[in-house]
Amino acid sequence: MAEECVPVIRYEELSEGPVVVLLDQRRLPHEEAELVCADVPALVEAIQSLAVRGAPLLGIAGAYGVALAAARGLDVAEAADQLAHARPTAVNLAYGARRAEAAHAAAVRSGAGAPEAAARALAEARALHREDAEASDRMAGHGRALLADLVPGDGLRLMTHCNTGRLVSGGEGTALAVVKAVHRAGGLRRLWVGETRPLLQGARLTAYEAAKAGMAYSVLTDNAAGSLFAAGEVDAVLVGADRIAADGSVANKVGTYPLAVLAAHHKVPFVVVAPVTTIDPETATGAEIEVEQRAAHEVARGPWAEGRPAGAEGEAVSLVPAGAAAYNPAFDVTPAALVTALVTEEGVASPVTADGVADLCSASRGK
Ligand code: MRU
Repeated sequence: MAEECVPVIRYEELSEGPVVVLLDQRRLPHEEAELVCADVPALVEAIQSLAVRGAPLLGIAGAYGVALAAARGLDVAEAADQLAHARPTAVNLAYGARRAEAAHAAAVRSGAGAPEAAARALAEARALHREDAEASDRMAGHGRALLADLVPGDGLRLMTHCNTGRLVSGGEGTALAVVKAVHRAGGLRRLWVGETRPLLQGARLTAYEAAKAGMAYSVLTDNAAGSLFAAGEVDAVLVGADRIAADGSVANKVGTYPLAVLAAHHKVPFVVVAPVTTIDPETATGAEIEVEQRAAHEVARGPWAEGRPAGAEGEAVSLVPAGAAAYNPAFDVTPAALVTALVTEEGVASPVTADGVADLCSASRGK
């Protein structure tokens, strides 16, 4: 059965003016609802509440947000700042916002009027959207070939964390795009999906995508991963990234680092799949990556209480005694030494070294 595709993001000109329309990921998997953002504060709120999320898609959202500001005659530099800083860890967000801002500024410098400069910002956002889809296809191809080398034979049992599919991308995604390619070729025995506490991107979103794609998949609580490795049930781990430092350290959804440690202990390949736009040469080491710290209530209340669809029955239930403190980093950082391979649209770095990462960036710039 063909996978049904509700657009994850689009820019639309309505009679009331331009808008950015998002598939509201807070309401998945139960409802495929659209969220219409007519101004920058609405888009910033959508980013911060994870209605739109995942590194590559944040970049696209940032770029469309700048185009929206330009088309509505707002202060483009201010809009780009607000969007670029809406969340701190995924470098793609600032990349997308700044890229559209630069296109707008270049148009203004060359004497274009406001409508023409706004059109240039939008064209840049659309180009980024398209490029991300193309990158996704190429990552899927490289990743599938890599897996065939690392884990020969059919019937792979792959583990993933968070959500890295079409919900984070202009195309089919990063790590999940590789899984889908393996699945289409008949090579996937099972996808192990970590639930990804506290916001459940694995349980809600990756499971939603896996079900649509007709994969055999199982959702596990994050703390069940160790027993699966111990039982020899994992052939490889595939995850995405929010920012990759120049030394190859990988910031990704919290819970990624423990999986990398488990994979190393059990001698299972641990593969990171990300577009080159996720590499940040300006961040020298993993220690310099700013990790977003989120509100305590996301941990203290039952899973995904914040995103409970409007009108759903029941109050959010507290899991903890009143006043309990919480530790809620959104990401963790995995050192390059624990990453078997980094797959990008430009090819694969393995082992992951500063030189290998720099080569991938040069290959991208050389186009
Ligand atoms: O907090 P989120 O849901 O935006 O975090 C997303 C992730 O950590 C993804 O794994 C990452 O962006 C890679 S997706 C290509």
